[in-house]
Amino acid sequence: MEYVDLRSDTVTKPTPEMREAMAEAEVGDDVYRDDPTVNRLEELAAEMLGKEAALFVPSGTMGNLIALLVHCQRGEEVIVGNQSHIYLNEAGGMSALGGIQPCPIQNQADGTLTTEDILASIRSEDVHHPITRLVCLENTQNICGGVSLTADYTRQVGELAHSNNLFLHVDGARIFNAAVAQNVTVRDLVEPADSVMFCLSKGLVAPIGSILVGAGKFIARARHVRKMLGGGMRQVGVVAAAGIISLEKMTKRLEEDHARARKMADGLRQVRGLAVDVNSPYTNMVYLNLAEDVTVNALQVGEMMKALGVLVDSENERRFRLVTHYWIDDEAVERTVSAFQKALR
Ligand SMILES: Cc1ncc(COP(=O)(O)O)c(C=O)c1O
Repeated sequence: MEYVDLRSDTVTKPTPEMREAMAEAEVGDDVYRDDPTVNRLEELAAEMLGKEAALFVPSGTMGNLIALLVHCQRGEEVIVGNQSHIYLNEAGGMSALGGIQPCPIQNQADGTLTTEDILASIRSEDVHHPITRLVCLENTQNICGGVSLTADYTRQVGELAHSNNLFLHVDGARIFNAAVAQNVTVRDLVEPADSVMFCLSKGLVAPIGSILVGAGKFIARARHVRKMLGGGMRQVGVVAAAGIISLEKMTKRLEEDHARARKMADGLRQVRGLAVDVNSPYTNMVYLNLAEDVTVNALQVGEMMKALGVLVDSENERRFRLVTHYWIDDEAVERTVSAFQKALR
């Protein structure tokens, strides 16, 4: 059976055009900076994000970790959202590999960290305290519903960070979704950030890879840390070729995913037994709960959905996250709504 796969936008397989570009890519040893396709991808990414330089990395997790390792010394502290991917879902890499301590603060429902909370978390100079070095934002904020942070808000946090001698890193795994949702450029959204990581392998459909951008000196250091972590890759232009298509073409079609997410949410609002979050979706993620009177749990509904040809991710006993992407067309949206109707009948 061909499944409608809504578990994540990471499930996107490369398009035929990507596969062709990968097969024909010009390559070289990227550790020697000899891979023309990687060089082109990095130049394009730096240009689009409005930063001096970029580095191609194997995953978003490695991109975030490299940024933290470059910005912070051992024993220093990073202010992160308590619902952030860096804090919750990156296997504690900052502490395990960098000796860096997270200082988690409340993510508000709109994905932000309040400037009051950030300010209150900055350690005063005291021999007993760790040194606060960095603030991390996540845009779009996944667990808060795929909500996007505005350029104005990011500027406020940037000013606060910089006036307190802190750096600002943006985990922008889905920063292009954020830009499309607000009809602004990605450059505008990340202008105040010292470093940004974004993923090619999510809504941008490439099979592998993320990009870290920042100032030239920062990226030179990041290249060294990537090697240290074993992330220096050789003829990786075969993968970067897909990433170029991600940037040139896939960034321009994300509104289709957002529109389908809205259509899916509208359909699911009509299904008895489901309670779609009031403002959902903000971008390409629909969040919903089972209604209180439903006696089966999300795992059981997930199994029924699978039998009906739709793969969904349950967040907990009552909650689902459905993610639209390149391979979800209008028919897949209809199949999803009708499968939920059948599962909850
Ligand atoms: C917000 C966010 N940041 C970072 C990552 C890490 O990306 P990767 O899975 O490529 O390591 C993810 C992955 O889902 C994510 O959702």
